[in-house]
Amino acid sequence: MNENLPLGIYVHYPFCMRKCPYCDFVSYSKSQCGIADEDYLFALLNEFKIKEPFVKGRTFRSIYFGGGTPSLFKPSCIGTLLETLSSYIDTGTEISMEANPGTVTKKLLKEYHDAGINRLSLGVQSFTYRALKALGRIHDSKSSFSACESAQSIFDNFNIDLMHGLPGQSINEALYDLQCALDFSCTHLSWYELTIEEDTAFGTNPPALPDEDLLIATENEGFSFLNSNDYQRYEISAFHHGKPCQHNTNYWSFGDYLGLGAAAHSKLKIGSVTYRQSNYEDVPQYLKDVYLLKESGDVRLQVVADSDLPFEFMLNRLRLLKETGIEEFSKTTGLDFNKVKPQLLKAQQLGLLYLNDTGYGLTEHGKWHLNEILKMFLDS
Ligand SMILES: C[S@@+](CC[C@H](N)C(=O)[O-])C[C@H]1O[C@@H](n2cnc3c(N)ncnc32)[C@H](O)[C@@H]1O
Ligand code: SF4
Repeated sequence: MNENLPLGIYVHYPFCMRKCPYCDFVSYSKSQCGIADEDYLFALLNEFKIKEPFVKGRTFRSIYFGGGTPSLFKPSCIGTLLETLSSYIDTGTEISMEANPGTVTKKLLKEYHDAGINRLSLGVQSFTYRALKALGRIHDSKSSFSACESAQSIFDNFNIDLMHGLPGQSINEALYDLQCALDFSCTHLSWYELTIEEDTAFGTNPPALPDEDLLIATENEGFSFLNSNDYQRYEISAFHHGKPCQHNTNYWSFGDYLGLGAAAHSKLKIGSVTYRQSNYEDVPQYLKDVYLLKESGDVRLQVVADSDLPFEFMLNRLRLLKETGIEEFSKTTGLDFNKVKPQLLKAQQLGLLYLNDTGYGLTEHGKWHLNEILKMFLDS
């Protein structure tokens, strides 16, 4: 099965105003790094030229500027990059950008829109002063509201990121955040439970968090609130109101993506073989690498071993709550369904999954125990 999978492109912008204490995404303080946007853009353009042969003739279903804080990248630089990619873009291409409310004005958002961004993802996290302070965000609740108001007036398609399970947060405070987001009629909502990551300030010095019972109660109340307001849960933490995110859906379906920028990853199925490639996380090293790649032309694609594909496929695909068709595994990985059938049957016996003639998916119980299911696919 050699047909092409859907293709997205991810552009990583690795700079922020300052590091949030809970964040383990690859991001550095923009002022301390001292790298000009124009130099970073130059590397992105060169990197695309080097990797272009792998995607020639295909159309991008989505382009995603993630970070870091891409709303610190000059709109003119985003415009230049989109111009370069224009022959790969059609009217249906979703072009998203993440923005931090503490870095945007209505005028700036309009400039991103004019540069070609057609979907905005606002990292609001909360609408309350107390939660934003506990998270060490650079913005206050007033900026959360004003950024949403501006986004609503400019973008037909916009997402709000919220976090819950925050230090000292009650169920009502979490529900208040959801209500505020819905008041802006966002087309998409991501509702993440705060996780404490190693190698972050919270990892070293963890804050007191709500207990397990409170977390479960908050999630249950939140899910039913969103459901009753017509926000459909289609992924573990993602809810759409008419517009699922094309870019993330492609990741979760184990589709293809080309990554550009420091720390970006690519995954491409070429013929029947699946490849991966990762860029350096350190920005000066990444910039140097692009220069060297231009000379050598060797982009260091790595073949993903057949033994890794079942886990990788399930890791992504089971996050989507829509049933997985029986044929999807073979179509996306090139492997036989029998490679995963025994594990699916085992998970079914444990009540974590259902499996029938046409497909399989998580049970209600399985949605709370995804990691347990995934372990079954390690080294299969
Ligand atoms: C890649 S981050 C970038 C967004 C943007 N830089 C910002 O913070 O406004 C995307 C989202 O992941 C979520 N996130 C980041 N770290 C998290 C953590 N430790 N636990 C839960 N959610 C997290 C936040 O909601 C954040 O908006
Ligand atoms: S602004 Fe976003 S990417 Fe940057 S440190 Fe904070 S959470 Fe991480």
